[in-house]
Amino acid sequence: MTTDDTAPWWQGAVVYQIYPRSFADHDGDGVGDLQGVIDRLDHIAGLGVDAIWLSPFYRSPMRDFGYDVSDHTDVDPLFGDLDTFDRLLTAAHERGLRLLVDYIPNHTSSEHPWFTAARSGREHPYRDRYVWRPPAPDGGPPNNWLSVFGGGPAWTYDEPSGEYYLHSFLPTMPDLNWREPAVREAMFDVARFWLDRGVDGFRVDCAHFPMKDPQLRDNPPAADGALAMHRPYGDYDTQRHVHDKGHPDNHGLYRELRRLLESYEPGGSRIAVGEVHVFDWAEWATYYGEQLDELHMPFNFGLLQTAWRSDDVRDLIARIDSVLPPGAWPSWVVGNHDEPRVASRIGAAQARVAMLLLLTLRGTPTLYAGDELALPDADVPPHLVQDPWGRTGQAHGLGRDPQRSPMLWSAAPGAGFTRDGVTPWLPFADDPAVRGVEAQDGRPGSMLTLTRALLRLRAERPELRRGAQTLLTELPDGVVGYLRHTEGSALLVLLNLTSTTRQITRAGLSLEGPPGPFELLAATSDRAAPGPVGLPLLLGADEAVVLRVS
Ligand code: NOJ
Repeated sequence: MTTDDTAPWWQGAVVYQIYPRSFADHDGDGVGDLQGVIDRLDHIAGLGVDAIWLSPFYRSPMRDFGYDVSDHTDVDPLFGDLDTFDRLLTAAHERGLRLLVDYIPNHTSSEHPWFTAARSGREHPYRDRYVWRPPAPDGGPPNNWLSVFGGGPAWTYDEPSGEYYLHSFLPTMPDLNWREPAVREAMFDVARFWLDRGVDGFRVDCAHFPMKDPQLRDNPPAADGALAMHRPYGDYDTQRHVHDKGHPDNHGLYRELRRLLESYEPGGSRIAVGEVHVFDWAEWATYYGEQLDELHMPFNFGLLQTAWRSDDVRDLIARIDSVLPPGAWPSWVVGNHDEPRVASRIGAAQARVAMLLLLTLRGTPTLYAGDELALPDADVPPHLVQDPWGRTGQAHGLGRDPQRSPMLWSAAPGAGFTRDGVTPWLPFADDPAVRGVEAQDGRPGSMLTLTRALLRLRAERPELRRGAQTLLTELPDGVVGYLRHTEGSALLVLLNLTSTTRQITRAGLSLEGPPGPFELLAATSDRAAPGPVGLPLLLGADEAVVLRVS
């Protein structure tokens, strides 16, 4: 916990992301629920994180597992009810944990009463809450926009009314029309509903999607190589998405949301963190707002997309630093419910290095539940695929089930996730007797032990929470390093991104002051911390360390 700082809480915080279906199943139906989260709050508080981001738990037909909302102000019975939510919020706050919830502005479920009303006829007053257009002259969709989830156009024809409606994702997820004032009003009421209940803020889903080109112009074709920093999305990648999302008018929306948040606590303890899946970093940074008056932080997904090589990781860190508007606070992510697990992307040994990186870089880290165990992706055979994108995007390996596999708590039947004899909604990713929380608890060298130690160190060291960052550029190939410093005190972080040793000499560190020995504060290896470390330092294979240098 951060107690000694004057900066806003979220700048010193570590956020823990829970995908509620996969965290803990209290009622024994094989799917996680809110009471399950309450049951496991001590694990979260014991880790040493400061806030939870809870993925959607709203009423939903679950075509996209809750990102398709049919009632924004109720809890889906699968997860509990509003009373359970209130108890969760209170129990989290009692443990000093803030709670962020998902806010999904771009679309609703097609079963949302707004859409049912809009669909009932062209003259219905709710019609314009969604985006409707007549067919193109050939009877086809009004323009060439494609659904992110594959499966063709972002338009579905509505036979009775003779018009198409827009859906950037599934046909069961129609896009809201944010140019219609009633939508703004109704959706800001939704935000108020949760803020009034006491949530500490929002994670804004698809934050760059709501405003589109008002003329709905065709997207141009993608240039070769334009998507170098981006996991391939299949057909969707054949276009440059300049008209179907990312319109500058999104900024007005976030200025308005920011004003709403500030109206609760001026100065800002209620926050908005946005999913801005944009890899043109200059454009990405605009979501902070010119006056830092939009999103408190856009998520930075760079580490999910960058090749795990020292040059690329270093360039990314430098690039983020260079685009941040003055005073803007960075954020970092190495995993979430949409991306393959870090332990599978880069291997278990490097996942430890990534954890040390995530928890020592300047900025607010978001830790995806299960990454503290180095959970790998689960093997999900075709007949068990749940994710709609897993079906349409099978050819491209786009299914997100593997990273949504349930938490492993104990060696008990059901892995402590669900009850004995109940089949979890997705298969487990690993042996709970080895990979689970109970098995890793207190075990020297386990990922859980490392994660807790790093979170403790971060809580103790203002250099890590708030300090400035100087990236080192003269280190051997394969090594990323930086200093985190406050006045008069500096920590050195060195990360070997390879599986062979590297020698670190004084020349590579460009340090002023005495040549050490330095004090080792944390390591991914079994090097004894705290303890002295001299130069030259042999950084072992897959080893990362935090040293106190002054
Ligand atoms: C981003 C969410 O993280 C993802 O899970 C969801 O499918 C899309 N937005 C659509 O809401």
